[in-house]
Amino acid sequence: MPHTPASQPSHDQLATKAQAWSALFSEPMSDLVKRYTSSVFFDKRLWQADIAGSLAHAEMLAAQGIIGAQDLADIQRGMAQITQEIESGQFEWKLDLEDVHLNVEARLTQLVGDAGKRLHTGRSRNDQVATDVRLWLRGEIDLIAGLLSELQLALVEVAERNVEVILPGFTHLQVAQPVSFAHHLLAYVEMFRRDAERMLDARKRVNLLPLGSAALAGTTYPLDRERVARTLAMDGVCQNSLDGVSDRDFAIEFTAAASLCMVHVSRLSEELILWMSQNFGFIRIADRFTTGSSIMPQKKNPDVPELARGKTGRVVGHLMGLITLMKGQPLAYNKDNQEDKEPLFDTVDTLKDTLRIFAEMIGGQVNPATGAKEGGISVNAEAMRAAAQKGYATATDLADYLVKKGLPFRDAHETVAHAVKAAQSHGVDLSELPLAVLQGFHPAIEKDVFDCLSLEGSLNARNTLGGTAPAQVRTQLARHRARLAA
Ligand code: ARG
Repeated sequence: MPHTPASQPSHDQLATKAQAWSALFSEPMSDLVKRYTSSVFFDKRLWQADIAGSLAHAEMLAAQGIIGAQDLADIQRGMAQITQEIESGQFEWKLDLEDVHLNVEARLTQLVGDAGKRLHTGRSRNDQVATDVRLWLRGEIDLIAGLLSELQLALVEVAERNVEVILPGFTHLQVAQPVSFAHHLLAYVEMFRRDAERMLDARKRVNLLPLGSAALAGTTYPLDRERVARTLAMDGVCQNSLDGVSDRDFAIEFTAAASLCMVHVSRLSEELILWMSQNFGFIRIADRFTTGSSIMPQKKNPDVPELARGKTGRVVGHLMGLITLMKGQPLAYNKDNQEDKEPLFDTVDTLKDTLRIFAEMIGGQVNPATGAKEGGISVNAEAMRAAAQKGYATATDLADYLVKKGLPFRDAHETVAHAVKAAQSHGVDLSELPLAVLQGFHPAIEKDVFDCLSLEGSLNARNTLGGTAPAQVRTQLARHRARLAA
């Protein structure tokens, strides 16, 4: 039906978005274009931020004398009802009203009349949507930071039980030197700590207020933007209106931090998958994180870590999507930006689910009856030890031993290579070679060599800050405990 500019639509008729803005349009949108341009079915998840932003704006408009006290009261009453309608599932979201902003505003006008129409004074959907996304993302970052703490805590708990458990450390996936399993887990704690820091640093740039930028150039009304920022607990206001409505760097930055975090999860996943395989047999994860095979009855597949590794690609893809979305846009707002939401939402959902499931898979779940955590990963210390004994993991220790006896390191390295070759040809470990045989490689070798050829001796010797010696690992554990409790 062609739009008729002659008659003013009543509030009840404000059902299509063409009616929401103008008499200028001579024909309605086709259904396909409506579907193509609308965002309500995904951006409705911003409704709480949208209402919070509107209430802060309205309160400021009233304080500045731009709208009346009665208008403010009407807006507050209307928004309270809308909140209740959305929460109870009664709110009718209309595709015709394009997005969350127009849906809420149209319903407000339906409920409270002219006051609803005054809400948009000095505001545009351009600064409104930028504000909503920032408010919403701020809350999500706080949740993610909490989940990252839980995951770190789960790793610390497992590490505390496994300081003396030794597994082979790898480089090039070849046995390199023995390490404490706790030390290995604490490497991931460091990664997730940095991820949390990155999130909280990005939060500083997320938590700034675009509202008051209006469509692009600011507004003719005497707004108090600082007041709105305070009401919304934001750290400040965007200082340039063109920038405020148009850049989505804060969302890109968040997604980059999320991608890195997923990359860390993915590396851990890869290790869990390897460690669970029959060839390693280092750990088990609880059955509820695995699935069987429909054809091979013996299988228990590590589906959760595999999916996390797979979902990492999805999140990195969202980063590519968002950054590419931004690259060709002239100032200021362009509708392209509506495309920021689905990748951002999916990044948040994927990351939160992944962190939650990993914290539980690794650390277990609190049993309400006993208060103790149950069902985290279980560790096969014997299998780890056997693997560490297999690959001449203490060869470097023998070289270091010879250096301490006065050999230049390069010569020691060469001497030990001969010893390893001999041990290999006899199918034994270095520590299993008789002293006389070892002395054949260098006369400086004495009985005390066996201290450094043991796995424990090798670990204890790496007692530098950040090293794998149990004493160092315990220091680090205490540091993480204190930090995570703070
Ligand atoms: N739904 C839009 C978005 O997500 C809101 C802003 C629309 N602004 C406009 N001028 N069409 O970006």
